[in-house]
Amino acid sequence: MPSMNEQQIALVKATVPVLRDNGVALTSHFYQRMLTHNPELKNIFNQVHQQQGRQQRALANAVLAYAENIDDPSVLNHVVQRIAHKHTSLGIRAEQYSIVGKHLLASIEEVLGDAASQELLDAWTAAYQQLADLFIQVEAQLYQTSISDNYGWTGWRPFKIAKKVKESDEITSFYLTPCDQGTLPAYRPGQYISIRLFINETGLYQPRQYSLSQAPNHEHLRISVKKEPALDNHPKGVVSNRLHNEYTEGAIIDVSAPYGEFFWDNTSQRPVVLLSGGVGITPMIAISDAINASESQQQVHFIHRARSEHVHAFKAWTDNLPTPQFSVRYFYDDGAAPQNHAEPGPFTLETVLPSDYHNADFYVCGPTGFMQRYLTELRQLGIDEARIHSEAFGSGGVES
Ligand SMILES: Cc1cc2nc3c(=O)[nH]c(=O)nc-3n(C[C@H](O)[C@H](O)[C@H](O)COP(=O)(O)OP(=O)(O)OC[C@H]3O[C@@H](n4cnc5c(N)ncnc54)[C@H](O)[C@@H]3O)c2cc1C
Ligand code: HEM
Repeated sequence: MPSMNEQQIALVKATVPVLRDNGVALTSHFYQRMLTHNPELKNIFNQVHQQQGRQQRALANAVLAYAENIDDPSVLNHVVQRIAHKHTSLGIRAEQYSIVGKHLLASIEEVLGDAASQELLDAWTAAYQQLADLFIQVEAQLYQTSISDNYGWTGWRPFKIAKKVKESDEITSFYLTPCDQGTLPAYRPGQYISIRLFINETGLYQPRQYSLSQAPNHEHLRISVKKEPALDNHPKGVVSNRLHNEYTEGAIIDVSAPYGEFFWDNTSQRPVVLLSGGVGITPMIAISDAINASESQQQVHFIHRARSEHVHAFKAWTDNLPTPQFSVRYFYDDGAAPQNHAEPGPFTLETVLPSDYHNADFYVCGPTGFMQRYLTELRQLGIDEARIHSEAFGSGGVES
């Protein structure tokens, strides 16, 4: 495929204002079109994210950012990596880019109507192909590395739920072992797997991501899942509640190889601040576990905010992290709990950070509101963007 010419680049750039105003209308049309023509794809797209409009917004933002940076898309490399990790964890294949491309181009034509000249459509065809080629290449590399270096696999591999352990009123850990009794994958602490369940009511598979909540080991993969309550008048969490209620020890689920670019930088000597809210604690447990098991001398500040002691998971485990390397603080939104060594939350970041925070690596994970608040506070404190690592679970409400 030839690269884009100057005129095509200018045409794509000229669509930026249209995309800014109508991006979500375009991507909504696109999803409806694609999932009508290719209903099998409903098995890989999170249907609740569809209903929430989350996918439509994510794709619209990505298309807009791409058009805005069409002169030099390499500035989006970080975003491309993040999306590619999500894609590979879902087993997205190169040939599926043709399906997406076909429906995206048709949607541009249908939504823009007369404003869509042939030149504009040709320009977007070239632009889409360029982006698709980039994703296909990055994802091929991720699949390859997973298989050649990390005992990974492509697609879904059946795992048995060997053990379930309740960690709080809402969070339960699932210990997963491969049904084929083969080797477990290597992964970086902080990474996630996708799992999928077959949902009888809709006749669809539904995938979800779960962070691995332990350092890599030779026994099992462990995930720790919060049962998501019903929000407003919507049904309670489809996958998490099924896992809690219907998937007993011995049940089999499909699991992807681990991916994700939120993980502990084990080359750093800096102090580490692990900042988590609610179930966002899971990757922090894996990172703490890995640091504790390693030779690393890094000072670790483990700061966790929960709604109350009832939903505070892994407390017995974090209480036992060795001092002085680990300092652990808990904050409960419903007030202090001295018997748990917990302080009243929510907190302002500046008041809880260690004195050497300017030099630290930050890892942040929690519900939407938690992330928005503390990422903003970190930036206001002038922390270098390169040292802020974050993972958005994108689920539940704004509170932890
Ligand atoms: C990288 C990553 C790592 C993750 N790690 C973990 C982890 O370690 N542990 C963990 O528990 N979770 C984790 N998650 C979140 C997890 O993937 C799921 O999103 C979560 O379990 C909810 O899935 P569900 O099927 O139970 O809920 P869903 O059915 O997806 O519903 C989620 C919420 O949306 C509400 N809802 C339903 N329909 C609508 C609608 N139309 N409009 C508005 N709201 C609606 C529901 O009531 C519910 O509260 C992670 C996510 C990502 C992306
Ligand atoms: C150039 C083309 C594409 C772009 C720009 C794109 C963009 C995105 C973005 C921005 C996300 C959200 C990432 C996140 O949650 O962090 C995403 C997720 C996803 N993409 Fe793509 N994507 C492309 C191609 C594809 C293809 C070919 C498929 C397969 C048919 C696909 C399937 C998915 C799925 C299933 C998700 C997860 C959705 C969810 O969990 O809600 N994408 N993509």
